[in-house]
Amino acid sequence: MNPAPTRRAAALSAAIISAAAAFLLLCAPLPPALAQGQTESQPEYSVIVERDVMVPMTDGTRLAIDIYRPNGSGRFPALLERTPYDKGNSSEIRVGAHEYFAARGYVFMVQDTRGRFASEGEFYPFLDDGWLENRDGTDTVRWIAAQPWSNGEVGLLGGSYTGQTAYMIAPTQPPAMKAMFVRESAADLFDHWVYRGGAFEHAFITAWSTRTFGPNIVERTFRGDEREVARARLEAAIGNLERDFWHLPLSRYPLLRGSPGWKYYYDWLAHNHDGPYWWQQNVGLNHGRFQVPVYHLGGWYDIFLKGTLENFTGIQRSGGSALARGNQKLVIGPWVHGPTNVGKVEVGELRFPGADQVDYNAIRLRWFDRWLKGLDNGVMDEPPVLIYVMGDNRWRTEEAWPLARARVTPYYFHPGPSGSVASLNDGALSPEPPKPPPDAAHPASFAYDPNDPVLTLGGNTLFIVNGPTDHRAADVRSLTFTTAPLAQELEVTGPIKAVLHAMSSAVDTDWVVRLGDVYPDGRSILIADGILRARFRESLARSRLIEPDRVYTYEIDLWATSNVFKAGHRIRVSVHSSNFPRWDRNLNTATSPEHGARSETAINTVFLDPKRPSHILLPVIPR
Ligand code: BEZ
Repeated sequence: MNPAPTRRAAALSAAIISAAAAFLLLCAPLPPALAQGQTESQPEYSVIVERDVMVPMTDGTRLAIDIYRPNGSGRFPALLERTPYDKGNSSEIRVGAHEYFAARGYVFMVQDTRGRFASEGEFYPFLDDGWLENRDGTDTVRWIAAQPWSNGEVGLLGGSYTGQTAYMIAPTQPPAMKAMFVRESAADLFDHWVYRGGAFEHAFITAWSTRTFGPNIVERTFRGDEREVARARLEAAIGNLERDFWHLPLSRYPLLRGSPGWKYYYDWLAHNHDGPYWWQQNVGLNHGRFQVPVYHLGGWYDIFLKGTLENFTGIQRSGGSALARGNQKLVIGPWVHGPTNVGKVEVGELRFPGADQVDYNAIRLRWFDRWLKGLDNGVMDEPPVLIYVMGDNRWRTEEAWPLARARVTPYYFHPGPSGSVASLNDGALSPEPPKPPPDAAHPASFAYDPNDPVLTLGGNTLFIVNGPTDHRAADVRSLTFTTAPLAQELEVTGPIKAVLHAMSSAVDTDWVVRLGDVYPDGRSILIADGILRARFRESLARSRLIEPDRVYTYEIDLWATSNVFKAGHRIRVSVHSSNFPRWDRNLNTATSPEHGARSETAINTVFLDPKRPSHILLPVIPR
């Protein structure tokens, strides 16, 4: 038989099939949540602006608010964002929400939080925004409801810190608060924001504290010549961030120390265990006090993805009223963190066609039209969950998160070679468990020197390289476990966990696990990752050093994804002990890395035999 015509015929039919698939995808109806043209508020008002209105809090401190009002008679529902980032340039202002909503019949307000910009008082993140002694958010909602232009209904919105200020009002239940739309915020400030698996979110917290909070702290703290000196020091610190990330111990980080506005930074380093300091500001512990419907928006590559998912699932299941329970909504796109990244198609090194079908302001208008104006727009008739399935590159609705039909499937680590990568071991990955002796596999080891960590190349980070990026340069320095090219595509949607049976020559070390999608051209695209500091293996609230050379079982939380590994691609799991500067470096000593400077090199070993079968648990979705 002449193979050439057969190959040509095969190529032709493949081309026809993929053209047909593309046509069907284009013709596929959009999920209703993304369809346009239903009942919605129209832009019919010009906008009246009042700036720097001072709102008194219960303790007498006055917080500044800017008000964007529809120019019309009557009373209107109100929307509030509370920001530490300057009400004139907040996350909502940057996406034009003030003009968009005011033109459509909402009074839109942005407030400087306590101790920031035009507001009075001392700044300390989060503690004045919730249910503790000062309840600035609640005081503000009550004030809004009493204004002559208010119809007594208030919605809260924002993202990141300003989303957190919204979540933190809900448990105080001000009667005027009717609904919320929150982007990319946390349930647990310890494990979803400041630390992760016991490791400090170093690059994010340190760059955020310097670059984002720094300038206003300096302006408010210093006067005259001192201010000039402080400005110059801050500018130098911002310029030197990349170098200063390496500073040890972190509790003596240059510049920030001794400046009162940054007290929280050192408090956070001092509170490097979960405990009462964190529980007093933990939204997740208050899900039972939520009484309103909340729309939660997140990104697969967002630094606060876990918080978005946990707040949705927690309030949906155990919210404090029938209005909260079962009335939560979730949308997760393929995005990295930030207001202007919602709807982006280009993310990291990938392109996600159709990701722009979510219009950030339009999706929020439908929500608030339903809950603040009572418009019958069908939003509550739609499934509660909308996710962007990467690889398939399309939006899909779901009835719940996690998906009930997911089959949690172990993929086991085996010796190699997989023949696909230059790494420390080039191991293999498969759903087959390891075989008993005589085939039982030797463990795989690597040296981890804190002075020579694996560098951050992307992922759910902020202020440094982020998103889905090629991790071959990290794989070279890691243990890797890679499948054969997939004969059929495989969808993984849901929470992901790795189980390592592992030992270290040190009394403490970190375990960093990455899940990657390996393209036929060799690119090793990061899908999800996670870290566990060994001393926190039993509890984030109680650390216990490990015994050197003793095997422990570690569960590493890689959070979640929705990704279709296409036919011909491979699945890769990589293991190392660092991802710096994203996470602070474990020094492999008994001194906690936030407070120590002396480090040791550790020899870290992962076991692959039937009694100690290290593996990753993938939520596989039947296709
Ligand atoms: C945000 O709104 O997502 C954001 C604002 C400032 C710094 C980081 C994030």
